Amino acid sequence: MKDLAGKTAFITGAASGIGLGIATALAQAGVKVMLCDIEAAALDKAVAGLKATNADVEGVVADISVREELQKAADATLARFDEVHILVNNAGVGGGGSYGRWSDAGWRWTLDVNLWAVIWGIEIFGPLIERHGQGGQIVSTASIAGLISGSGNAYNVSKYGVVALSEGLRLELAGRGIGVSVLCPGLVRTQIMDSARNLPERFEGQAPTPMTPAIEAGIAQMRERIAGGVDPAYVGELVREAIENDWPYIFTDAEFEPFVEMRFANIKAGFDRIRDRTPVR
Ligand SMILES: NC(=O)c1ccc[n+]([C@@H]2O[C@H](COP(=O)([O-])OP(=O)(O)OC[C@H]3O[C@@H](n4cnc5c(N)ncnc54)[C@H](O)[C@@H]3O)[C@@H](O)[C@H]2O)c1
Repeated sequence: MKDLAGKTAFITGAASGIGLGIATALAQAGVKVMLCDIEAAALDKAVAGLKATNADVEGVVADISVREELQKAADATLARFDEVHILVNNAGVGGGGSYGRWSDAGWRWTLDVNLWAVIWGIEIFGPLIERHGQGGQIVSTASIAGLISGSGNAYNVSKYGVVALSEGLRLELAGRGIGVSVLCPGLVRTQIMDSARNLPERFEGQAPTPMTPAIEAGIAQMRERIAGGVDPAYVGELVREAIENDWPYIFTDAEFEPFVEMRFANIKAGFDRIRDRTPVR
């Protein structure tokens, strides 16, 4: 999509962090933007801030882990802007817990927000992008954790799912004039470590998971690294450039590239181990 001016984008998790960075970069490029978020106060502030720059933007509150709410947000987008060209499935939560600490509710919250909402976003907005025939772009925010797994299993599973979905969809939608990109950020300076502020009520009331000093130290260290991470405004600019040039993968820096290479090397070693054997069929 070389000419973004005058197009319309729908962005989830747009009230803060990476989503707001993307909304700002697109609005500055002349894109009309519907910002969607669960946090009403932050959303109002973000929309007011962009409107003050004469951007053509609106906000819609929705918990995207509920399909009906996402559908209503899509209806509101059409009512306000008539068409949608760019879908940015960005909202996400760092939840789920590691081995020995996870709960069903934690897995469900993480998978519903990080993966199901992406699936629903594509189901709901895909046909809306197709129907005007002007082409479009679907960008989904995964993570570098969608390519390499550490602890935080539910999060990793959700993000591998977003990478897998984007890779497959890119092939399926190429012939329909819709590009598909997956954003795999490294460490970005956002409120991701405070994701529990948006825990929907239906996932509350679980038994508290025991904190050990080692886990607390790990969380404190991660907070510090996120605080020193990449500027979300810069990530927004990268995403704008990726939409213009239909990049399949969007990375925010090369910090984790050696770990991705290590994973590929491990996979290759798996093939090397059996390469000379004759499979029994
Ligand atoms: N910050 C990082 O270092 C980093 C790294 C890799 C991937 N990511 C991914 O980037 C995306 C954006 O996160 P961020 O880092 O900007 O964090 P953030 O917490 O600053 O922003 C996330 C936004 O999503 C919204 N949100 C959360 N649950 C929602 C729901 N159910 N419905 C609607 N909106 C909801 C929040 O209100 C918030 O505005 C996420 O998918 C996250 O997993 C972040």
